[in-house]
Amino acid sequence: MKKTVPYITNLKNSRVISMMTAYDYPSAKAVSEAEIDIILVGDSLAQVVLGHDDTLSVTVDEMLHHVKAVTNAKPSSLVVADMPYMSYHVSKEDTIKNAGRFIQEGKADAVKIEGGRKREETIQALLEAEIPVMGHLGLTPQSKNLMGGYKVQGKTLDLARQLFEDALLLQELGCFSMVLEGVPTVVAQSISENINIPTIGIGAGNLTDGQVLVLHDLLGMKSKEYIDAKFVKRYDQQYEASLKALKTYKDEIEKREFPTDDYSYDMGNDINDSLKEWKKEIKKILS
Ligand code: KIV
Repeated sequence: MKKTVPYITNLKNSRVISMMTAYDYPSAKAVSEAEIDIILVGDSLAQVVLGHDDTLSVTVDEMLHHVKAVTNAKPSSLVVADMPYMSYHVSKEDTIKNAGRFIQEGKADAVKIEGGRKREETIQALLEAEIPVMGHLGLTPQSKNLMGGYKVQGKTLDLARQLFEDALLLQELGCFSMVLEGVPTVVAQSISENINIPTIGIGAGNLTDGQVLVLHDLLGMKSKEYIDAKFVKRYDQQYEASLKALKTYKDEIEKREFPTDDYSYDMGNDINDSLKEWKKEIKKILS
């Protein structure tokens, strides 16, 4: 069964909602088969897939390329396309055009944008264009230059109040859910308890309506030189497993242990039987 926006909204207060990033066909297949509710094609792909230092340099075209790969997997999970930096900080017309591409060309089910009160008109415009919107409050990575880095948000009473008011506003505007990233557990809890749309937490404690992580973090696909945030749990060590497999492959081909006959083709009985003829043929070709 394909999960829809109303299906996700109705999960509030019934069970924990699962969300995971995916950026390509095989990972979308796996996330869907694991029965994760929502796939986020996050702009985190700028860092974990494209190797940029932050999320600011990924473009709509680049994001769209990955959204299409994900939706080609026909996942049962709801697919949310993350609007990249400068794709909705522009005119209403351009914002709708950019978001519309994710829905029309990318076949995503909804979009996600970062920010609270600053985004009031943008969210209204998207909803008027029939595009479901997931909000994103707290540590919003696209604001890293204004925030002075990736810092936990809402740590003072004043800042927590602003966050709470932004959450109420996103609900009032019609967002179907919102990500709460990098906020104290108690603030995420009070927001989750006082709004009627689902909150999806990352670095926001265990009392939000759902949880999300970045796939490459969870699978341990990044090398040790990355410094992961406190909230990252490595459920697997796939970087180390890949390294081991690649080194074994290199070693085996150098020793001519791979490919064995099991992994090779023969020429069929006729040619094997007349190997002498075949060798003569080669001489003719080379002469
Ligand atoms: O881009 C992303 O992966 C995100 C999640 C961390 C919520 O925005």
